[in-house]
Amino acid sequence: MSSLRVLIGADQIHTRIQELGAEIDRDYPQGPVYLIAILKGACFFLADLARAMKTPARIEFIGISSYGKGQTSSGEVRLTKDLDVSIEGHDVLVVEDIVDTGVTLTYLMKVLAQRKPKSLRVATLLDKPERRQRPVEVHYVGFRIPDQFVVGFGLDYAEDYRNLKDVCVLSE
Ligand code: IMP
Ligand code: MG
Repeated sequence: MSSLRVLIGADQIHTRIQELGAEIDRDYPQGPVYLIAILKGACFFLADLARAMKTPARIEFIGISSYGKGQTSSGEVRLTKDLDVSIEGHDVLVVEDIVDTGVTLTYLMKVLAQRKPKSLRVATLLDKPERRQRPVEVHYVGFRIPDQFVVGFGLDYAEDYRNLKDVCVLSE
């Protein structure tokens, strides 16, 4: 039997995202900022973050696959859906649900940097720094969490639980 325990409640998530939006507004007073969400987990965070910002934003999606059906990374990263637009000369903010080993972001940042954006930063809802294998610079972090497998607010376990309002610890 698997069990769920609320780690970060919906209200707390909402409040923190408003703060991040204000911080991003200060850092990019002009816009547009290209918000690139990594499918599928970051969609919920992207939708709330974009609405927490006053700076004009453009919304794009990129698909990356690094996890199979388990709770640990397979170590392989694949681009499953590319951007539909050029990001050359634009301010780009990669929006991620969680940074874990850093393998996914290391790969993606290399791919995106080659496309010559004006600036390239990362916003993540969650950060699990204990598990980092590759150093990645993350500019905007919602919450630092301990090394536990979490689901909800976009995060899944084998495609389940994404639509939970809270971030929950899943234990089996
Ligand atoms: P990384 O390449 O190890 O940093 O993995 C990042 C990706 O792994 C995230 O975008 C998630 O899709 C997935 N992931 C890492 N930790 C968790 C977790 O605790 N719950 C659900 N997905 C996770
Ligand atoms: Mg992901």
